Amino acid sequence: MNVYDATRMADLLGREGYAETADEAEADLVILNTCHIREKAAEKIYSELGKLALEKREREASGREMKIVVAGCVAQAEGEEVLRRQRAVDLVVGPQSYHRLPDLLKQAKGGQRLTDTEFAVEDKFDALPQPSRAQIRARGVSAFVTVQEGCDKFCSFCVVPYTRGAEVSRPVTDIVAETRRLVDAGVREITLIGQNVNAYCGVDEKGAEWSLASLLGRLAEMQGIKRLRYTTSHPVDMAQDLIDAHEAIPKLMPFVHLPVQSGSDRVLKAMNRKHTVADYLDIIARLRRARPDVAMSSDFIVGFPGETDEDFEATMALVREAGFASSFSFKYSPRPGTPGAERADQIDEEVKRARLAALQTLLEEQRQAFNAAMVGKTIDVLFEKPGRHEGQIGGKSPYMQAVHVSGPADMIGEVGRVAIVAAGSNSLAGRLVSAGEEAKA
Ligand code: 5AD
Ligand code: SF4
Repeated sequence: MNVYDATRMADLLGREGYAETADEAEADLVILNTCHIREKAAEKIYSELGKLALEKREREASGREMKIVVAGCVAQAEGEEVLRRQRAVDLVVGPQSYHRLPDLLKQAKGGQRLTDTEFAVEDKFDALPQPSRAQIRARGVSAFVTVQEGCDKFCSFCVVPYTRGAEVSRPVTDIVAETRRLVDAGVREITLIGQNVNAYCGVDEKGAEWSLASLLGRLAEMQGIKRLRYTTSHPVDMAQDLIDAHEAIPKLMPFVHLPVQSGSDRVLKAMNRKHTVADYLDIIARLRRARPDVAMSSDFIVGFPGETDEDFEATMALVREAGFASSFSFKYSPRPGTPGAERADQIDEEVKRARLAALQTLLEEQRQAFNAAMVGKTIDVLFEKPGRHEGQIGGKSPYMQAVHVSGPADMIGEVGRVAIVAAGSNSLAGRLVSAGEEAKA
């Protein structure tokens, strides 16, 4: 979501005459797009700001300007506190206010220090300009399209409902129009994003409500689209029509990121997740029935308040039973304003650390085994860019694994059949296979 928001901010500021640079020393405007989900991410901003403040001071001493903006969920959650903690910050702007950036920057240039964290009633996406064809092309063949924002779930560890607000879905026609523009400019893979993407419930021009499955079905009809994905989902919203879509829509990739967080029903209840371990396993079973080659990925939190050794073992058991192609796992981080943070039975840091290490070892074994199992298979690869070496091209498997082959650059944007010959720790090596050769094999 932050990657998507950052590109939209760049599009917007491009219109105001700003150009992107990868070199901080060259920038006269720096926007930190921040994440508030864990304390570590949130605290990192202040050390980053400290460095920028020094740079700004040097710059100003030589009569040149540098404006510093803090955007994203830390901006939303901490507001003016950011201005107080770091004098060098000119503007603090929450995710609902990005469309006001040009105005806010004008005021900042006039010497004001400002905060805008208002929850806008209007759809911020309508207010943002669309990227040009050249910008879309420069960003490659795979693109995000936001379909839903916010969250009403209130998991007891999570700040998202407070920083991103209530669940809202974008209208179908907006999504179709944006996707059409991307595809016309050469995009071949669309990932629909939302904090709770499978809670999608948007209206069409007649006012009828569409589910995520119907939306995927509509986009799959679009000529030029080769692959569809969606992220991130909640188990509770894993409706049967979405599971069926994995059977009915070949363009929908057989890779589902479905956070479970814990393998203990007791902890899931305390987390306010509203699903059990059995519910989760049942979803995987139904997905596999619909699409036998489906692979799963998940998020895990260890050390939620009150988590016992037994609870943690239940998480390990779930991982062994379900099997994951890849995962994200974290130590529980108490977040201000969330119910989890108020609990007296916080888990010792050392225990959290040990549990995370054990879980990550197991998840990493599964990831490596999943990658190794690709060797000898012939799979589809969507080529995205030139490879690291001359004459190579690189792309992604249906499971988001990086794959490189020797091949012509004109295959970028195409899906090719690739025989996987080796699995490294972070990528697969393969060989392009012709249709004739595959038929013979
Ligand atoms: N502590 C640790 N991890 C968290 N996540 C969300 N909130 C917290 C927290 N307070 C994780 C969840 C979520 C992912 C995006 O971040 O696993 O799925
Ligand atoms: Fe946070 Fe996801 Fe739970 Fe919403 S569903 S509160 S975004 S973890």
